Amino acid sequence: MLDKIPHPSASRVPGTEEAGPGFTVRFRVNGHPVSLEVTPTRRLLALLREDLGLTGTKRSCELGRCGSCMVLLNGRPVNACLTMAYQCEGAEIVTIEGIGADGLHPVQRAFLEEGGFQCGYCTPGMVVSVVALLAENPQPAPEEIEEALSGNLCRCTGYAAIIRAVNRAIEQGGGRHEN
Ligand code: FES
Ligand code: FES
Repeated sequence: MLDKIPHPSASRVPGTEEAGPGFTVRFRVNGHPVSLEVTPTRRLLALLREDLGLTGTKRSCELGRCGSCMVLLNGRPVNACLTMAYQCEGAEIVTIEGIGADGLHPVQRAFLEEGGFQCGYCTPGMVVSVVALLAENPQPAPEEIEEALSGNLCRCTGYAAIIRAVNRAIEQGGGRHEN
C-alpha cells in the first residue's frame, strides 16, 4: 500500500502541470529586476526555486495549506504555490533570501535565540509571516500573532518556542525590513 503513495518530492499535485504558450513576465525579486518567459500555468514557487535558484522558499503541500512557501508580494504574505507567475507582473517579491540579505533579520535572530525550529523546513515561511506581521503591526496582541501564523504549519516544535521567538522579536524591534 505504502509503495503506491508517491513521495512528495517525486510528484506534482494533479492540476498543477504546466501548459500553454509562453509570455514574458517582469517583476522584482529581492530588489533585482527579473524578466522571464513563463507558461500561463507557471507558479511563483516553481519560478523562484527552479528558474532563480531561490530554494529558501520551501515546497511542501502545494495546496496552500502549510505556509512553507510563503513570500512577500508587495509587502503582503502569499503562498507562492498558489500564486501564478503572471499575477506577479510589476510586483515586488521578497523571499527569505531577501529578508536575510543584510545579515540576520531580527526575526531570524529571535528564532535562533529561542530555538524556534527543529527540522527548520517551516522556518522560512514562518519568518516571512512574522516579518509581514511586524511591519504592519509592531506590537501585535497574542491573538494577532496566532492569526498571523495560522497559515504556517510546524510538525516539530509544538509552537511554544516559535511564539517565544515572535515575542523576542517584538521586544527587539523586529519590524525592520528594508526590501
Ligand atoms: S507548499 Fe505552499 S502552502 Fe504548502
Ligand atoms: S521545525 Fe520542523 S516543521 Fe517546523
